[in-house]
Amino acid sequence: MRRPLKTPGIVLILLLVLACSETPEPQAPAQPDREWWKEAIIYQLYPRSFKDTDGDGVGDLKGIIQELDYLQELGITAVWLNPIYASPNADNGYDVSDYRAIMSEFGTMEDFDRMLEGMHQRGIRLIMDIVVNHSSEEHPWFVASRSSRDNPYRDYYHWWPAEKGKPPYRYSLFDAAGDAWKYDSLTDAYYLHYFSSQQPDLKWENPKVRQEVYDIMRFWAEKGVDGFRLDAFQFAAKDTTYPEFPEGFEKDFIQYYAMQDGLHEYLKEMNREVLAPYQVMSVSEGAGRNFEDAHMLVDADREELDMAYAFDGVDIPKYGGYELDTMKSVFGRWDAQFAEKGWLSIFLSNHDQARMVSRWGNDSPEFRRASASLLNTFILTMRGTPYCYYGDELGMTNIDFDSISDYQDIAALNGYQKALSEGADMEAFMQQLNFSSRDNGRTPMQWTSGPQAGFTEGQPWLPVNANKDRINVAMQENDPESVLNHFKRLTRLRRENPALIYGDYALLDAGHPKIYAYTRTLGDERILVLLNFSAEVADFTLPSGMDQGEVLITNVSPVPVGMLPDTLLPWQAVVARLP
Ligand code: NOJ
Repeated sequence: MRRPLKTPGIVLILLLVLACSETPEPQAPAQPDREWWKEAIIYQLYPRSFKDTDGDGVGDLKGIIQELDYLQELGITAVWLNPIYASPNADNGYDVSDYRAIMSEFGTMEDFDRMLEGMHQRGIRLIMDIVVNHSSEEHPWFVASRSSRDNPYRDYYHWWPAEKGKPPYRYSLFDAAGDAWKYDSLTDAYYLHYFSSQQPDLKWENPKVRQEVYDIMRFWAEKGVDGFRLDAFQFAAKDTTYPEFPEGFEKDFIQYYAMQDGLHEYLKEMNREVLAPYQVMSVSEGAGRNFEDAHMLVDADREELDMAYAFDGVDIPKYGGYELDTMKSVFGRWDAQFAEKGWLSIFLSNHDQARMVSRWGNDSPEFRRASASLLNTFILTMRGTPYCYYGDELGMTNIDFDSISDYQDIAALNGYQKALSEGADMEAFMQQLNFSSRDNGRTPMQWTSGPQAGFTEGQPWLPVNANKDRINVAMQENDPESVLNHFKRLTRLRRENPALIYGDYALLDAGHPKIYAYTRTLGDERILVLLNFSAEVADFTLPSGMDQGEVLITNVSPVPVGMLPDTLLPWQAVVARLP
């Protein structure tokens, strides 16, 4: 159990020393700003799809407990757990009806306590997803709020009385009509929901709402959780005069929704009330409208959040492909902006994306293994905290649904209705959905080649990918060349080499059309990373002196470890130590 720090100062220093000495492996050179969350390798775990132990087809906390040794063997050091709170599941837990209770499908609070204890025993920290831009429409606050205009909870949400006419248009990301105001006849008023109508937005301008949220966060911090990921939080502050936005604003809605006045004050208050006293790490979802916003969120001396989670990178691949050049420049720009101050997250996928290897790599049988390993190499050798999404350590792929009835995700289903009502080209819509739907990234974890991939003994909530016979943990554990074993080697490499954590990043041969090459340098330690982002053999010329590097890891055999090759095989990744 964690208690808030009453007196920073000496206690803080002691705790920091303790935290550093707990850090599993390498002795990084003295870093004035060492933090466990900079050194962490985060595994994002989607509990609904990880492991089911009671046969209801939905993953549960007991399933996570069963697989704690698996997590430890991966070499990850923290878990970001998607929401596990009580929820009617309109949006798979991102619609919370009780922030202090565990969703019954997932188990009990006792299971949670055991899971957390088991993680901590294995040196794994836990980051909880806090969903407080909105609640569920079934949350007692909203039930009370909508019951009458003078209910004490009325001002917990955004209401617009209908006698004032229709409210100024607001775009909703998930609504079938794209409209973020929903009319509620009970009190003849509209309420605001940036996501689905089952997810009414909380009114952060009301200080009581903010105190309620801090209390909830304290509840979990007291239990000993180590960090919070703030869902959609950049949208939390709103101009409650609800001004008209220019026509077509929805095409660039981030400019109007993100980082509105008040947000930084709320974050500073949250920091004072919870984050600092409990010493928990924090990461925001989304990094604002520009680099300046991103810095204002996470510059340490501003005392708001710890780590930025920017979308520019993960948004690059589109149906039809992407340019390596764009990837190099986007990741390079973010790195340069954060070279001196602030800290970034590095990820190529999450639960809101289709599978990494299908978007960024090549999921054909020929290249899936190599390209998935190459992408993991990228994530685990870049500067910034790596976030590895469950199943990507195996190279799990998109599932290839062909009918809308196969999809479960509210964004897909309501998006389909919207496209239909707008007379869109539905064939093109379905192709796009097949490539990019979030359900692709949420199919059950593939543990074995057995029935339902060993995920459940029942009927899984979302179908298991048919390729579970070829892609699963059991097979990969026994194959030294597997994506899984390569992933384990990479986590170890990162933990043992401080240059991969704190070292400067420098791009090499910027214009190379196939190879993404860079170095990571910390003091005398220099590591070279070469990634062939193509299905062809690619040559490269290294600056003089670098060709003497010693290969530490490669994903394609048979490169003799120790010698730096002068061509890379298709999707080959090489990490070498430079003299
Ligand atoms: C962002 C989450 O990552 C996503 O899964 C969710 O649907 C929305 N926020 C709404 O909570």
